[in-house]
Amino acid sequence: MSKLATTFTGLEFVNPFVLASAPPTESKRKILKAFEAGWGGVVTKTIGLHHVENVAGPKTIFQRTSDVAPYVSRNKRPDTVSHSSWNWELISDQPLEQWLPDLEEIKTTYPDRMVIASIMAGAGNEEEMENWRKLARAVVNVGCDAIELNMSCPHMDRKDMGAHIANDEEIIRSILGAVTSAVDVPIWVKLTPATSTLVDAAGAAYDAGAASISLCNTFPSLPLMDPETLKFEVEVDGLVTSGGLGGLAILHQALQRVSDISKAYPDKAISGIGGIRGFREAFNFIVHGAGNLQVCTAAMEEKGSGGVGVKLIQELTQDLSEYMDRKGYSSIEDFRGIARERIVEHSQVRRKSDTYNGGYDIAS
Ligand SMILES: Cc1cc2nc3c(=O)[nH]c(=O)nc-3n(C[C@H](O)[C@H](O)[C@H](O)COP(=O)(O)O)c2cc1C
Repeated sequence: MSKLATTFTGLEFVNPFVLASAPPTESKRKILKAFEAGWGGVVTKTIGLHHVENVAGPKTIFQRTSDVAPYVSRNKRPDTVSHSSWNWELISDQPLEQWLPDLEEIKTTYPDRMVIASIMAGAGNEEEMENWRKLARAVVNVGCDAIELNMSCPHMDRKDMGAHIANDEEIIRSILGAVTSAVDVPIWVKLTPATSTLVDAAGAAYDAGAASISLCNTFPSLPLMDPETLKFEVEVDGLVTSGGLGGLAILHQALQRVSDISKAYPDKAISGIGGIRGFREAFNFIVHGAGNLQVCTAAMEEKGSGGVGVKLIQELTQDLSEYMDRKGYSSIEDFRGIARERIVEHSQVRRKSDTYNGGYDIAS
């Protein structure tokens, strides 16, 4: 067995690298191409039952910065490097009925790769619970290995969907109850980083049967306005709304969220997402406890690969493999979570004197 093989939520991955739910996994064509390139799994673009219609303009922009003029912009400039993606794309507009034969064909063509179906419905009544069950049963019937519950889409007006529900432990539990009663595959729960109750939400999800938490979805954010044109870098008829920031710019924040959950629930599984462009970022998620790694922006940005990161997956697997050889590791379990105990409270970090107790005493 290859040293890159991992068992995560009971599933055998040929390598721990998975394309996240997003444009790289929006169609059968792209997913087949991704598997041909070597990705260990995919989380499909989120599938739902409600009506979806995207904005009448670009859905995603890629923002870059440069050494010479270090501002962030989508505008083309020479010698820039990637900073982030910004998107306001909704979930898949391909109907469930069209997804099902595609998923079946993908799984039959690549039985050794993991297909995780991302699904999303509403909350608060039995009809919506039935929608979750219907989606879950349908994707499992055609061979999907696991399900990721999207409780993190940052682009919903509906208050019973996406990121809005990730603050509500009761809703999280009710959705997990519905889905776990309907199917018998591992359930991953993708949460939003934009809540102060993330650790409690993760705890509720694990307690209600989640096999893993996937973190992070994009961070809610606004695009920039150009000082000369007074236009937002992405807008429709002069209007914009909150969208999601992804890519390298969110790496540190994503790591902190993963670390919080990993410290609170060290025995539970986490799939790390946010800013992975290569081995070093992936390594950082693993040392904080992630046993699986998801990638979106870097795959989308790769030129000539049809947006599925053909070169990227080759580099990721090669660099991880070389690193493990160099260090004598036989699996990522040998270094997964090694940073966990080194993330401590402020007062536990050594000062020049030993009188500081976290700011509780009054300075004299
Ligand atoms: C254009 C775009 C569309 C996305 N669509 C979805 C989606 O349908 N469901 C979902 O769970 N996450 C979606 N995401 C979030 C990604 O799966 C991922 O969590 C996020 O981009 C952070 O990873 P990254 O830094 O590697 O891009 C989308 C991201 C982008 C950029």
